[in-house]
Amino acid sequence: MSSNDKNITWHHSGVSREARQSAFGHKGATIWLTGLSGSGKSTIAVELEKVLFQKGIKAYILDGDNIRFGLNKDLGFSASDRTENIRRISEVCRLFADANIVCIACFISPYVADRDQARAIHVESGLDFVEVFVDSSIEVAESRDPKGLYQKARQGLIKEFTGISAPYEEPVKPEIHLDTGDLAVNESVDNIVEYLTLKKII
Ligand code: PPS
Repeated sequence: MSSNDKNITWHHSGVSREARQSAFGHKGATIWLTGLSGSGKSTIAVELEKVLFQKGIKAYILDGDNIRFGLNKDLGFSASDRTENIRRISEVCRLFADANIVCIACFISPYVADRDQARAIHVESGLDFVEVFVDSSIEVAESRDPKGLYQKARQGLIKEFTGISAPYEEPVKPEIHLDTGDLAVNESVDNIVEYLTLKKII
């Protein structure tokens, strides 16, 4: 169904992107952290948000668990629900980035096609999208098991658990690849901040 069939029309803001960038002193963008449960996405995101905030940059985290308490409380972990989860959140990230905020998205987002769609939504709108592969082996993630979910998944108490009974498709060409088995949290954060600086996002 096209927008014409639905009788809807796009309304433009009276504030330009350039005006927002100049007022904020940086660009809006989405930093998309993808990786297994327990890979370190949320830990890195929290530190990154603090560092950006201290630099006077408007940044905000959108985290998988949190979004599933509200906006996406109707979704589970089947492949199609995960795709819908990522589709909705991609649109929300686009809105944040368009509002000139550095949006830090932390989602397992296990499917390449869904992450590519998130990127496409941003590129279409002329917004930066930075895919960060938060890479830890399943062994390392499972040994951390901060929420005890791997243990439950091994016991069969959680179905379709990523890395155990549901797939994780690794990024093919992420902008940033962090090996969290090797890097300290602050080193991962430094990597991201350096990239944002190099690309003149911040
Ligand atoms: S997805 O795949 O992107 O839609 O998942 P996401 O929205 O990021 O939610 C992941 C968090 O949900 C918890 N959880 C599960 N993860 C994976 N598989 C299953 N079956 C599952 N059930 C619950 C878990 O706390 C995930 O958070 P993180 O921070 O990744 O550990």
